[in-house]
Amino acid sequence: MDDKGISKAVIRRLPRYYRYLGELLEEGVERISSNELSEKMRVTASQIRQDLNNFGGFGQQGYGYNVPYLYTEIGKILGLDKTHHMIIIGAGNLGQALANYVQFEKRGFKVVGIFDVNPVLKGISIRGNEIRMMDELPEFLETHDVQIAALTLPKNNAAETADMLVKQGIKAIWNFAHLDLDVPEDVIVENVHLSESLMRLSYNLNRYVSEHKEKK
Ligand code: NAI
Repeated sequence: MDDKGISKAVIRRLPRYYRYLGELLEEGVERISSNELSEKMRVTASQIRQDLNNFGGFGQQGYGYNVPYLYTEIGKILGLDKTHHMIIIGAGNLGQALANYVQFEKRGFKVVGIFDVNPVLKGISIRGNEIRMMDELPEFLETHDVQIAALTLPKNNAAETADMLVKQGIKAIWNFAHLDLDVPEDVIVENVHLSESLMRLSYNLNRYVSEHKEKK
């Protein structure tokens, strides 16, 4: 199965399907109808049918979806059937929290190195990875197979660090620094901004509060 022809909107929704299907698998569920999945995920059944139709005729009438098959196929499209080696740049609060999170590895994202400039942190071990200094990074990248770099360092140092990583051949950056990175076309950047998510929460909370006031 390849992902040609699958729209970006569907691809964006795939991680959520993957998570739900994974939970169903853990519960031993072998098949599920679009209506049941719809109730669970709070997405309309027609949206689910439309999205999952991209993966062939697995939603047969009267049978529903084959959970293990769909889980595996979506995993392949998301590239989760391979292990990705990741380094973390900036071993402060956020960098250490990411390095400590066990579930990434279960999904195939293995932290192989953590780097910082603060000598106080040198050698501290986080889940088996000793924090290294940034001057060790070029040699590390020459001798290790690394696909992803997570940037959890201050914004002011992020652009320069991203440039250096790109020169060293890194093609995927998971950017937590609050800065839009300027990288060549063949480099993929995924920005994560928790504060934007909080702002959306705040907007929805405000709307909810004012709607309730109107009703009173
Ligand atoms: P922190 O101050 O605890 O950690 C930053 C670490 O980066 C420090 O250990 C520092 O020594 C290191 N560092 C500084 N310059 C460096 C360089 N050139 N190379 C390598 N390491 C360097 O900060 P915290 O709380 O961990 O946040 C890290 C970054 O992530 C900040 O830019 C912050 O704004 C951002 N952040 C983003 C969030 C998001 O949702 N996108 C959420 C929380 C923080």
